[in-house]
Amino acid sequence: MSEITQEKMDQIKAYIDRVKQQPYPTSYLIAVLHYVQGLFGYVPREVMDFVAQEMNLPTAHIWGVATFYHYFNLKPIGKHVISVCMGTACYVKGAHDVLEAIKRELQIQVGQTSEDRLFTLQEARCLGACGIAPVIMIDGKIHGELTAKSVVELIHRYRKAARGKTA
Ligand code: FES
Repeated sequence: MSEITQEKMDQIKAYIDRVKQQPYPTSYLIAVLHYVQGLFGYVPREVMDFVAQEMNLPTAHIWGVATFYHYFNLKPIGKHVISVCMGTACYVKGAHDVLEAIKRELQIQVGQTSEDRLFTLQEARCLGACGIAPVIMIDGKIHGELTAKSVVELIHRYRKAARGKTA
């Protein structure tokens, strides 16, 4: 998904050309970045330069907008995004152990993506499921009452599924 191809660059150019016909084209910058992230899964630095050139804006401005909104990913993300809740209820029930187990299993830190590009690890605040703490969310799906052991088993299931076997 993240590969920069001529076809995708042409699509971005076509999108920007449409935006340029609007009364205040620069006010569409967030929409353009949203479109870029939809194509690549993140906003690549090279594409920011291209957008800057096409929209007659300094790259620094685009960088500022992309970093201000946490919604935008500036690095490639994995197929699955794991958010570990570090809210109070989860923390008290062992979220720290769960997080450490995931970090060990994937050999990454929070904010990073595993080498096989399967998982990106994030921290979150209360995910609204305190009753089944500690909780993690994978691609929007909540998994609760986890332990260091069960979370590793869960990751194994996702790995197997990615290899085309039944989870
Ligand atoms: S504190 Fe983790 S779900 Fe509420």
